Amino acid sequence: MLSDTIDAAVMDAAGPGLRVISNFAVGYNNIDADAARQRGIRIGNTPDVLTDATADIAVGLLLAAGRRFKEASHEVTAGLWQTWEPTGMIGADLRGKTLGIVGMGRIGMATARRLSRGWDMRVLYTARSPKPEADRELGATHVDLGTLLNRSDFVSVHTDLNPQTQSMFDAAAFAKMKPTSVLVNTSRGGVIDQDALAVALRSGQIRAAGLDVTAPEPLPPTHALVNLANCIILPHIGSATDDSRDAMSRIAAENLVAGVRGQPLPCEV
Ligand code: DGY
Repeated sequence: MLSDTIDAAVMDAAGPGLRVISNFAVGYNNIDADAARQRGIRIGNTPDVLTDATADIAVGLLLAAGRRFKEASHEVTAGLWQTWEPTGMIGADLRGKTLGIVGMGRIGMATARRLSRGWDMRVLYTARSPKPEADRELGATHVDLGTLLNRSDFVSVHTDLNPQTQSMFDAAAFAKMKPTSVLVNTSRGGVIDQDALAVALRSGQIRAAGLDVTAPEPLPPTHALVNLANCIILPHIGSATDDSRDAMSRIAAENLVAGVRGQPLPCEV
């Protein structure tokens, strides 16, 4: 599971018989891939089959955070709902706004497609190199992170977690974002410095955040982010749909069996 750390010590404890590690996830930051490579251990993951489910959750969080679902729902359940008022629960518009995708891989692209086609959003993105298909299909523009943060109304994070992306959303990054902007993360919690995010949300440096991932998971209910009205947090459910989880389990099992038999893995990292 993505919640299991598989490092060199675990591999060595398993002994030389360990031939394959099959991750029940597409992200494999929980596995020390270099240590596995050095030991001739193969790694399997589950790409593609969770792309749509995760992109759906990114869009859902973007709407939920931008339109204040958490606060609005609390008003109802806490008996605070008084009347309809012209300036009550005002949130962010989506149509025609600028979307910044951090990490234009499969899920980033699926999220951008939804928001560009459904809400006419302009798309900026960061990626190691420009993605001609994103430029062609969505009129998206490859920019550096600073430009993306400066110009985006909504920022959706899809990059993998590695030493370069660890805490890439820190106080300096939030300072570059618009005070009206909304941040969504469906990748890995470690990409965001959560203490800095809490400060940015409390001080109004950014408008709201929607997180499907945190560090650690589960996030303790005492964490500063949990009780913020403008921060909605889900318990890592991006891939939690009937079809995605069925397909993930099948691929994870097939990777494992193929690895044990010494055959090519259907999905090898
Ligand atoms: C993955 O596969 O990496 C996802 O985070 C699981 O939901």
